[in-house]
Amino acid sequence: MDEKVNVTDREKTVNDETNTDTAMKEKLDEAEYMEADMPEQPEEQDGTGSGETTSNLPLAADQLDLAKQYKQMMMFYEAGIRQLTTKLQILNREFEQSNDRNPIENIKSRIKSAESIAKKMERKGLPMTLSCLTNNIYDIAGIRVICPFITDVYEVARMLLSQTDVELVEVKDYIREPKENGYRSLHLIVKINVFFSDGMRQVPVEVQMRTIAMNFWASTEHQLRYKKDKVFTPEMHERLKKCADIMADADYQMQKLAEEIHF
Ligand code: GTP
Ligand code: MG
Repeated sequence: MDEKVNVTDREKTVNDETNTDTAMKEKLDEAEYMEADMPEQPEEQDGTGSGETTSNLPLAADQLDLAKQYKQMMMFYEAGIRQLTTKLQILNREFEQSNDRNPIENIKSRIKSAESIAKKMERKGLPMTLSCLTNNIYDIAGIRVICPFITDVYEVARMLLSQTDVELVEVKDYIREPKENGYRSLHLIVKINVFFSDGMRQVPVEVQMRTIAMNFWASTEHQLRYKKDKVFTPEMHERLKKCADIMADADYQMQKLAEEIHF
């Protein structure tokens, strides 16, 4: 999990637009990929995920092309993240103007590393080609949006999806239907229109939306689960789930308070 390009850091709010460029280049200690526990790649590849290069041979011309294409593709995904992040920032600002508060606490994003992409392709039994990658893997660009209240999650999602250059591909509502382990979030796969010198491309981005409480649980649960040498007993799983339920109750109570004061 070494090659990660990440965008915003934990503390930065979405209002902090001036730092976005710097942040785009920042590496985040991002321990969030589910793929992290997948089997290791047998050998280091050329960064294209093509799996065809032998490290001690010079790269053939077509493989160099492939590496270039891969880099360009990653640039498209990065542009998709920028565009979507800007949209979210604008919505947040606008909402703030009329409601005196922010519906978005912060935004984080990441481009999936070549290693994670290769592992996912392998796991799904897909051939390592760029076209297969673009047609099948929709979470290469990922954005995580953290909101104070549950209603903010749905409101921000609604505002985003009502935009004509954002196409909804898939929704997974793990808030209404939490995962077995207690995980809650609203997952959207969207395609966003981005204009480049030669025309428009629709860039797929996975948007994970959750409350601060849901994020607290997901972040800590991930850290616990990814301690490789530690075994989780069923009783510990049960306790983790209980923590998720406590978080959900806190969210519900906060929501009720907000409604009572006509927030
Ligand atoms: P993939 O092929 O991995 O994309 O499977 P999927 O599309 O079924 O995954 P899903 O949409 O359910 O989840 C994708 C992402 O959500 C993961 O990579 C995590 O970032 C996050 N996620 C899903 N489940 C959990 C969980 O139980 N705990 C935590 N901490 N994060 C989760
Ligand atoms: Mg997914």
